[in-house]
Amino acid sequence: MKTNNINFDDLTFTFTETRSMYVTKCKRGDNWNTGELVPYGNISISPASTVLNYGQGLFEGMKAYKTDGGRILLFRPEKNAERAAKGCLRLSMPEIPKNVFMDAVKKIVKDNSDYIPPTEKGALYIRPIIFGSAEGLGVAPSTEYTFIIYCSPVGPYFKGGLSPIKLIVSTDYHRAPLKGTGGVKAIGNYVPGMLPSGNAKKMGFAEIIYLDAAEEKYVEEVGAANFFAIKDGNIITPELTGSILPGITRDSVIRIAKEKLGMNIEERRISIDEVMEADEVFCAGTAAIISPIGSIKYNNKEHIFSNGDVGNITRKLYDILTGIQFGTDSDPFDWILEL
Ligand code: PLP
Ligand code: COI
Repeated sequence: MKTNNINFDDLTFTFTETRSMYVTKCKRGDNWNTGELVPYGNISISPASTVLNYGQGLFEGMKAYKTDGGRILLFRPEKNAERAAKGCLRLSMPEIPKNVFMDAVKKIVKDNSDYIPPTEKGALYIRPIIFGSAEGLGVAPSTEYTFIIYCSPVGPYFKGGLSPIKLIVSTDYHRAPLKGTGGVKAIGNYVPGMLPSGNAKKMGFAEIIYLDAAEEKYVEEVGAANFFAIKDGNIITPELTGSILPGITRDSVIRIAKEKLGMNIEERRISIDEVMEADEVFCAGTAAIISPIGSIKYNNKEHIFSNGDVGNITRKLYDILTGIQFGTDSDPFDWILEL
């Protein structure tokens, strides 16, 4: 049995192996059954599998936190289960039932609970993956599917935690077209971003902002996080058109802004020109939590939103969201699942 000798002091968003992973398989036409924990390790897969050849697969991401008192908290994991189920249908895979997904999440977190860092150091990132694991030469759904959850202790996604990040708008690459798979966590959505995001990082930016693929005018997302702008006390976030991932953090920020801060929310298209006039901008996601955006470069012009300070509303949203996630405040929305 592997024991945990991890130093939680300098965690970053990188992979660290833990004790176990959860595995179950399903043949096409059958229903998923609950699976079992096995020691974390490599898996064997056919070179002709549909995931390796055609990218038939999706992933999810969520975090478990450990409070000072040792309570283990999960944030809205049923929403990940729902999104994974929808993603399965879009990617021609058998729909993962909520009970199987939740059984896996609970077992993996319990078995690896000593890998959860104290909240001020990070979280245990939980990574479900579902993919076509049988061989298939023609472009057609696999005859067998595998569902695995593994996990890893992680620190902040962007260096510096809550310090404002520098972004650049991608003018040469898009993330996802309308009517494509941008609205689900298809594995194939992520590799096209590695080149533009890698180039941006070489130039000193933390990430890129994608514009819509049709008109190249409206903001879609920030790498792997949803985008928000605040103007005159209103919150504007791109509407879910199908090309944008329906983030669980996005939904939570909207509800907190509306129900706790009494703010007006506008889910609509927002042009990059309008963004440049905003008072505060930030992005939000499981890995990113809420990350304030300090500057955006677009077409050789850089607009500075902040020289290091976190905007008032961004800060309030961060405090309320993380208060609930970390278990330091009450949970008025009933979002926390305690294990
Ligand atoms: N957008 C993309 C493309 C993502 O991959 C993610 C991460 O899951 C998000 C947004 C944020 O979604 P969530 O808040 O559910 O993590
Ligand atoms: C998450 O926020 O959970 C994500 O999926 C981002 C990931 C691509 C690193």
